Amino acid sequence: MDAATVAGYFKDKSILITGSTGFLGKIFVEKILRIQPDVKKIFLLVRAADTSSAEQRVLNEEKISPLAGDIINENLGLESLEILKLSKEIDIIVNGAATTNFYERYDVSLASNVLGAKYVCKFAKKCANLKMFLHISTAFVSGEQEGLLLEKVFQIGETLKEGCHLDIAAELQLVESVKAELTHSTNARQFGWPNTYVFTKAMGEMLVGHFGRELPVVIIRPSIVSSIYHDPLPGWIEGTRTIDSIISAYAKQTIPHFIGAGHVILDVIPGDMVVNAMLVAMAVHWSERGQVIIHVTSSQQNPLSTSTMLDLMYRYFTANPQTMGKNGKVVKTKRLNITNKTGFRAYMFLKYKLPLEI
Ligand SMILES: NC(=O)c1ccc[n+]([C@@H]2O[C@H](COP(=O)([O-])OP(=O)(O)OC[C@H]3O[C@@H](n4cnc5c(N)ncnc54)[C@H](OP(=O)(O)O)[C@@H]3O)[C@@H](O)[C@H]2O)c1
Repeated sequence: MDAATVAGYFKDKSILITGSTGFLGKIFVEKILRIQPDVKKIFLLVRAADTSSAEQRVLNEEKISPLAGDIINENLGLESLEILKLSKEIDIIVNGAATTNFYERYDVSLASNVLGAKYVCKFAKKCANLKMFLHISTAFVSGEQEGLLLEKVFQIGETLKEGCHLDIAAELQLVESVKAELTHSTNARQFGWPNTYVFTKAMGEMLVGHFGRELPVVIIRPSIVSSIYHDPLPGWIEGTRTIDSIISAYAKQTIPHFIGAGHVILDVIPGDMVVNAMLVAMAVHWSERGQVIIHVTSSQQNPLSTSTMLDLMYRYFTANPQTMGKNGKVVKTKRLNITNKTGFRAYMFLKYKLPLEI
C-alpha cells in the first residue's frame, strides 16, 4: 500500500484523538494534517477545566476541535449531548492517552490506563460509523520475557506468572478501598509484570479486547519510542524520557558508566515511524471486525546493540560537543564504559565509598 492510498483513508473522516498533548499524539496530529488536508475534523480530548481552557492547550487550526474531558470518567467526562453529537460524527478513534510514568501511584495508573481504556472503548461502541479504533499500548506488556514475542491477544485474567489469575474488577475495588495507603508496583510484580505502567497497560489491553469485541480494533505495541527520524523535524523529542535521559546525561558528560552488555539489543523506534505504522495499520485493517496486535519494534529487523548505540553517541558528541567546562573550554567527550553490576559496584566502592570511609 503506497503513501497516497494510506492518506486516502483519512479523507473526509472525523477522528477523535486522546493523548494529543503528549509526545506521540503531537506527531500523529501533525502528520494527519500534513498528509491529508481534506480530513474532515480532528477532535482532541484534552484534560482541561472547560472548553476555553481546552482551546488554550491546542493549536489554532480550523480542522481541529478541542474537547475538555478526561478518559478516567464514564463518557470521557463529556456532556451527554456532546457524546450524542460525536457518536454520529466520529469515524476513527485513536486512544493514546495514558499515564506513562513507570512507577506512578497504582490508583492513578489504573484510572487512566485501565478504566480509561474501558471508557474510550465504551464510547467507541456508541459510534455508529466507526471504521477504526486504534489503541496504543506498549511492547513491554510482555514483561521481561526473552526471545521471539508473538503478537498475541491477552485474555481477560491472564498473567505473566504461571498459576496466577488476574481479577481486574478486584484490583479496581482494592484501590478504591485503600487509596490512601497505596504503595506502587507491589501488585505488578505479583502478577509477573516489572512495573505499574506496563501492568496497567496490559490490563487496558484486556479491557479493550473485552469491551471492544465487535469493533474494528488495532492495538499497537511500540517499544522505546525515541526522537523523530525524518518527518517533520529530525531529532525532535519532547522532554527526556526513557533512553533519552542517558543520551542527554552523556551529552553533559555526567555518566562515565553504563550497566549492561555490549551485545544486548536495545529496542528503540523513532516516533515518526510509530506514527507511520499506526496510519498503515489503520488503513490495512480498516473496518475489519476483530482485534489485531502489532508490535512496532526494531530488534527483529534492524537490531541496535548497546555497543553500537554507545559508539554512535561517542561519535556524535565528539563531533558536536555540548558541554562547556568552568574554564570556558569544551569538555572532551569520553567513551562510556559498559560494565556489569559487579564492575559497577567495584567502581563505586573504589571511587566513592572507600574515600568517604577513610
Ligand atoms: N513514549 C514511549 O516510549 C512509549 C512507548 C510505548 C508505548 N507508548 C504509549 O504511547 C502512548 C503515548 O505515549 P507518549 O509517550 O506520547 O506519552 P506522554 O507524552 O506522556 O503523553 C500522554 C498523553 O496522555 C494524556 N493523558 C494521560 N492521562 C489522561 C487522562 N486521564 N485523560 C485524558 N488524557 C490523558 C496526557 O495528557 P496531559 O497533557 O493532560 O497530561 C498526554 O496527552 C501511551 O499510550 C503510551 O503508553 C509510549
